Amino acid sequence: MANLPQVPTFNIPEVKLSSSSGGRNMPVIGMGTAAHPFDETVLKDAVLEAIKAGYRHFDTASLYKSEKPLGEAMAEAIEAGLIKSRDELFVTSKLWCTDAHHDLVLPALKNSLRMLQLEYLDLYLIHWPLSAKPGKIGFPVPKDEQLPMDFNSVWAAMEDCQRLGLTKSIGVSNFSCKKLENILSFATIPPSVNQVEISPLWQQQKLRGFCKSKGVVLTAYSPLGAKGTRWGTDEVMDNEALKEIAKAHNKTVAQVCLRWAFEQGLTFVVKSFNKERMRENLQIFDWELTSDDYKQINEIKQHRLMPKPEMSCWVPQLVKAYVNNSFVVWLVKASGNSRKPNRAGNTGTMHS
Ligand SMILES: NC(=O)c1ccc[n+]([C@@H]2O[C@H](COP(=O)([O-])OP(=O)(O)OC[C@H]3O[C@@H](n4cnc5c(N)ncnc54)[C@H](OP(=O)(O)O)[C@@H]3O)[C@@H](O)[C@H]2O)c1
Repeated sequence: MANLPQVPTFNIPEVKLSSSSGGRNMPVIGMGTAAHPFDETVLKDAVLEAIKAGYRHFDTASLYKSEKPLGEAMAEAIEAGLIKSRDELFVTSKLWCTDAHHDLVLPALKNSLRMLQLEYLDLYLIHWPLSAKPGKIGFPVPKDEQLPMDFNSVWAAMEDCQRLGLTKSIGVSNFSCKKLENILSFATIPPSVNQVEISPLWQQQKLRGFCKSKGVVLTAYSPLGAKGTRWGTDEVMDNEALKEIAKAHNKTVAQVCLRWAFEQGLTFVVKSFNKERMRENLQIFDWELTSDDYKQINEIKQHRLMPKPEMSCWVPQLVKAYVNNSFVVWLVKASGNSRKPNRAGNTGTMHS
């Protein structure tokens, strides 16, 4: 695997972000940086490997604690001549709930820029349609700290960030059609992007139709179901239909998921810190799914996989387990987890 070819960046298609400053293009595939447990050195090395492999789009957030090592890795990549300048990269970060207040948006963005050692972001997203009492960043947001978001004033502050040139574009994450429609009703700079959970098991047809009609680019997160993470599920990678399709094409299930997202016109952020797998995830642009594959994919039972930050993580997981008749499996997993640090323990490294 050490001899895998480098993927030239010109092979990675890009999409135009309609309301960005200067007509910014976003590479369709981005590298996710949410990890638990989180290790700065591992992340830094992974980003350098990803740049060598051809990744130019990186997805971070103040919540993930990945801004600092990502910033160090980008600086090192320029120093080492892997890229000529920061302009070759597309960097997304996100405003956490505790900073989702009009006067805290600009300081939060400036803090992200400082951590990333950047003068501007390419994309700044409202992470969740939820505000929280200002203070320590953590996941999930305790119930007594949750506040309804003042969408008008928070979005106005996001627009100021773009006008100031501190980000090329702005957007949202985890917004439903209704919430997005609300923002669009008063925005002077419409959101360029809505980043949400999408995979073959949670295809989000309605939201996709809505975003397309409004010119909002959809980015799929957890496109592999976040297998192997504490917040994710094995259901996507273990899906029998996807396994069959992968076998027929001599590809992996991960490649089928990402190819499907690409053919759906989506952009996507996928996390692998493993050198071989991050390269495998780029090998999706020179083959196609067939109509028979689509028949199978369209029949996959749909359900949301991710917990919301305003809930205790175990509640939706429990409901999900009941829905899928897998309560016993869930119980075994949950009892295993209870020996690990509490997943609802506001460690600040928990993804969302
Ligand atoms: N906006 C939001 O609220 C939100 C929420 C969740 C995630 N995100 C963003 O989206 C990114 C991606 O989502 P995610 O990390 O939750 O899940 P994901 O990308 O669906 O899955 C990541 C998991 O899959 C494994 N993996 C990656 N490629 C693989 C392959 N080819 N074969 C087998 N396993 C593979 C990774 O392990 P290895 O590293 O060991 O390969 C990791 O455990 C995040 O990192 C984050 O940046 C945003």
